[in-house]
Amino acid sequence: MVIGLLTGGSDCQGLNAAIRSIIRSAIQSDIKVVGFNQGWKGLLENHPIPLGLENVSGILPTGGSILGTSRINPKKIKEGIPTIEENLRKQGIDVLVGLGGVEAQSVLLELHKKGFPVIGVPATLDNDIGCTEYCIGFMSSVDVVADALDKLHTTASSHHRVIILEVMGRRSGWIALYGGLAGGADWIIIPEVQTYFSDLADHLKKRREMGKYFSIIVVAESAKMPEIPMPDLKDKDDTGQLRLDRRNIGMRIGEHVEKTTGFETRVTVLGHLQRGGSPVAFDRILATRFGSHAVEMAVKKQFGKMAAFRGNNIESVDLAKVVQESPRPVPIQLYNTARMFY
Ligand code: F6P
Repeated sequence: MVIGLLTGGSDCQGLNAAIRSIIRSAIQSDIKVVGFNQGWKGLLENHPIPLGLENVSGILPTGGSILGTSRINPKKIKEGIPTIEENLRKQGIDVLVGLGGVEAQSVLLELHKKGFPVIGVPATLDNDIGCTEYCIGFMSSVDVVADALDKLHTTASSHHRVIILEVMGRRSGWIALYGGLAGGADWIIIPEVQTYFSDLADHLKKRREMGKYFSIIVVAESAKMPEIPMPDLKDKDDTGQLRLDRRNIGMRIGEHVEKTTGFETRVTVLGHLQRGGSPVAFDRILATRFGSHAVEMAVKKQFGKMAAFRGNNIESVDLAKVVQESPRPVPIQLYNTARMFY
């Protein structure tokens, strides 16, 4: 058997841990692995790279993807899916294992519908893929947010300022909610819950009255605030998706806070620091479990499915269900728990 392997869409911490696990597990089952560079681009251009033990030595703790990745989405390219299918067959690939977010899983589903064997592995710091409680990369980005909040607390407290931290999350508030909970945020703004600016301003004033002279707000880049509408964004990435970093939601909220409350306010945009560097232990273990499960799925010919973390077990879930249930919103119960600590 030959496994084709790629990482598609944005990178995240823990991809290399998963690649290592897939290659090492495959070798133990006498399976060959062939990689494709820069995500779907490598497959469209048909550049296979044989992978072996020498490629994975020492990569468990490293960030990024040794295979590289890109936002190229073959579903949005004319003849993209048939070209990929043809190249996979030409290379003698028996099953394609794809690591990535919702877009990558939906490309795999498309290939599956055409009759090509595929297996998905959920990897995105956004943690918004359906049917899995955790995706590779999520906990590492939460750690970065929590660390940033610890640091912002000390300076906000010295200067009696409001500090706003803008974090990633294209369609969901997972990073903002978990990061905010871990770092003791005084207010969290996520797309799943409509936040009214007046409520936020009242809360900040109340905190001052209680003798709390600083406040920390975490905002997801995709947050919804009726008083701060989404501008008509023109900038799109390679897949045609809006560049949410150009929305400047953190800065806009900051200006509103300063104008309305008179409290001195500063804004930090965490950006790609959330996606870079070494994965935390949770992600290394999750990626290792997903990787060996994906190879087990290949051996058992469980195709058209994604490895999923459910109740501390790794299970195989139909890709059609995964795509249908994506993007997965945060549980409102957890959001309400976070509110208790405002
Ligand atoms: O999907 C992961 C993600 O990091 C989002 O949270 C963010 O909106 C987007 O990718 C940023 O993409 P890029 O790296 O292309 O700027």
